[in-house]
Amino acid sequence: MTYRIAVIAGDGAGPEVVAEARKAVDALDLELEWNELPWGTGHFHATGAMMPLDALDVVRQHDAVLLGAVGDPSVPDHITLWGLLLPLRQGLDLWANLRPARLLEGVPSPLAGAPPVDMLFVRENTEGEYSGIGGRAHQGLELEVGIETSVFTRAGVRRVLAHAFELAEGRSGVLTSATKSNASRYGYVLWDEVAEEVAARHPDVRYERVLVDALAARMIGNPASLDVVVASNLFGDILTDLAAELQGGMGMAASASVAPGSGTPGIFEPVHGSAPDIAGRGIANPIGAIWSAALMLEHLDEAEAGARVLAAVEAVCREGPRTRDLGGQGSTEEVGDAVAARVRDG
Ligand code: NAI
Ligand code: MG
Repeated sequence: MTYRIAVIAGDGAGPEVVAEARKAVDALDLELEWNELPWGTGHFHATGAMMPLDALDVVRQHDAVLLGAVGDPSVPDHITLWGLLLPLRQGLDLWANLRPARLLEGVPSPLAGAPPVDMLFVRENTEGEYSGIGGRAHQGLELEVGIETSVFTRAGVRRVLAHAFELAEGRSGVLTSATKSNASRYGYVLWDEVAEEVAARHPDVRYERVLVDALAARMIGNPASLDVVVASNLFGDILTDLAAELQGGMGMAASASVAPGSGTPGIFEPVHGSAPDIAGRGIANPIGAIWSAALMLEHLDEAEAGARVLAAVEAVCREGPRTRDLGGQGSTEEVGDAVAARVRDG
C-alpha cells in the first residue's frame, strides 16, 4: 500500500525543517506519496483565508499530515492559529496531543548532569481553555470586556485520561495529572473526578494529581519522578515548552495530534512555531520535525521505520553535526542530510 502524506510546510522556518523530515522518511524504502498543500500566511495574503473551505475534506483523503509551523509577523497570531491549526485539530477531532520529552545524549540542557529527562506529555487537544468560546463587547470603549470560556466535557476529559493511563501502562506505570483545582473550581474539579474513575480501572498505574504550578517546579527540581503527564490544552501547551527547554530547546521537541482508535489522519509537527527570528537563514534545528516524522511512522503502524528514524536522530545528536542552538555549527540541511544518511545505513 502507498501512504498518502499531506505536507503543510507553513510559514517561516516551517518549510526548512519539514524538508529535512521528508528526507529522513524518503531514506526508508516505504511506498509513500507526498502531497504539498500550500496553506498558511501566503495563502492568507492571496485569498483572505489560511486554508481553503474544503480543507478538512482534503486532509481526510490522506493517511497523515506532516506540518511545519504557522504564524508570521504580518498577521496577528490569533488569526493564523484559528485559521489553520486549531480548526484542523478540532475539525478532525484530534483529541490527543502526544509530546515526548527526552534528553538525548550529546544535547545540552539546563539540567545536564541531572538524572535523565524522559517524559511523555499527553495534552488534551480539542477543548479546555482553547475551546474558542467567548467574545468581546463594547470594543474600544473603557468598559470593554473580553470573555474566554474554558470547556471541559466528561467525555472529552475521559478519553484523553483513558489514553494517558494506557500509555502509562506501556511505560513505567506512573501517571501524573496536572490541574489547578484549587483556584479553578469547576472544570479541573470535573477533570480530577473523572481521573479518579479512570484510575480505578487501572490499578496497576500509580496515579497522582499535582497542581500545575507545583508540577512546573517539579519538572526542574525532580524530573526523574515524572513519566507520563496528562494535562489540559493550555497547561499541556505551557508545560511542553518548558519540557522542550529541558530536552535541548524548542528545536528538539516533537508532537503528534491524533485520535487514537479512529482512522482519522493525525497531524505530526514540531512543537516550535515559525521562528521568524531565525527563519530563512538555514540554521533552524530540524530534529523536532524529523522526530515528529518518526512519530508519524509509528502511528502509521510502521514502528520499525519510526524506530530507524529515531535511532538516526539519536546517533546524529550524539556525534554531530548539530545546529547552533545545540552549540554546534551545522546548518539545517547538514543535520538533515546526516540523519537521512544514518537512516539509509540503518
Ligand atoms: P517559536 O517556537 O517560533 O520561537 C521561540 C524561540 O525558539 C525563538 O527564539 C526561535 O528562534 C526558537 N526556535 C524555534 N524553533 C526553532 C528551531 N527549529 N531551531 C532553533 N531554534 C528554534 O515561538 P514564537 O516566537 O512564540 O512564535 C513565532 C510564531 O510561530 C508566532 O506567529 C506564533 O503564533 C507561531 N507559533 C506557531 C506554532 C505552530 O504552528 N504549531 C506553535 C507556536 C507558535
Ligand atoms: Mg505551544
